[in-house]
Amino acid sequence: MPQQRPLRYNNGAVLLHWLTALVVVAQVIVGFMFVNMERGPTRSEMFTVHKTLGATILLLALVRLAWRVANPPPPYPPELSRWERVAATWNHRIFYVLLIALPLTGLLAVSGGASTDGRTTTPLLGGIPLPLIPGVSKDAGGQAGSAHVVLVFITLALLILHIAAALKHQVQRNRAAGRMPPFKALGEEAVPAP
Ligand code: HEM
Repeated sequence: MPQQRPLRYNNGAVLLHWLTALVVVAQVIVGFMFVNMERGPTRSEMFTVHKTLGATILLLALVRLAWRVANPPPPYPPELSRWERVAATWNHRIFYVLLIALPLTGLLAVSGGASTDGRTTTPLLGGIPLPLIPGVSKDAGGQAGSAHVVLVFITLALLILHIAAALKHQVQRNRAAGRMPPFKALGEEAVPAP
């Protein structure tokens, strides 16, 4: 008899998903806070936090991709329509691209900004030196910075869609609702007493 695969992500994927969600949400808040600040020590500190969270996101995305290759996602439940599967699959693929492209465009922007002062690293929290990308001109850095901002707004739009889809499945209480614990699908919760 063929073994049935479970309709939920495994614990490693769940842990990596919620860690990513936490760091990305913190990053969006820090990012929007520091860009509007006047130049000074507080802004510099916030920028260091922003770079540290960015490096963490890149690291998490690479670990997550490796985990995903070794642990393929669970199959979609049959009640999910074709357009919903296609939308979910592409939403997730684009997220992975963004989770790598966002930190890299940020690093390119910082590397371009430092191209004239001979620095080869930029400090993260705790003084950890993050290597800059060599040979990035000021112009190229500026363009990467603009791309970084565009990618932020694409991420926010996709995140709204992503959360709306998760909520839709909760309201419908179909089996897609329980794919990412701690969410539960129909039948997983305690059966109420009659
Ligand atoms: C904060 C609220 C969030 C909620 C409620 C949420 C909910 C979910 C749910 C329910 C799934 C399972 C989808 C499925 O049925 O396959 C999922 C998967 C996924 N989420 Fe989120 N998520 C959130 C934040 C994020 C963030 C911030 C990111 C990254 C930008 C993200 C990236 C992903 C990716 C890439 C997958 C697919 C995982 C894979 O197949 O490898 N999510 N999310």
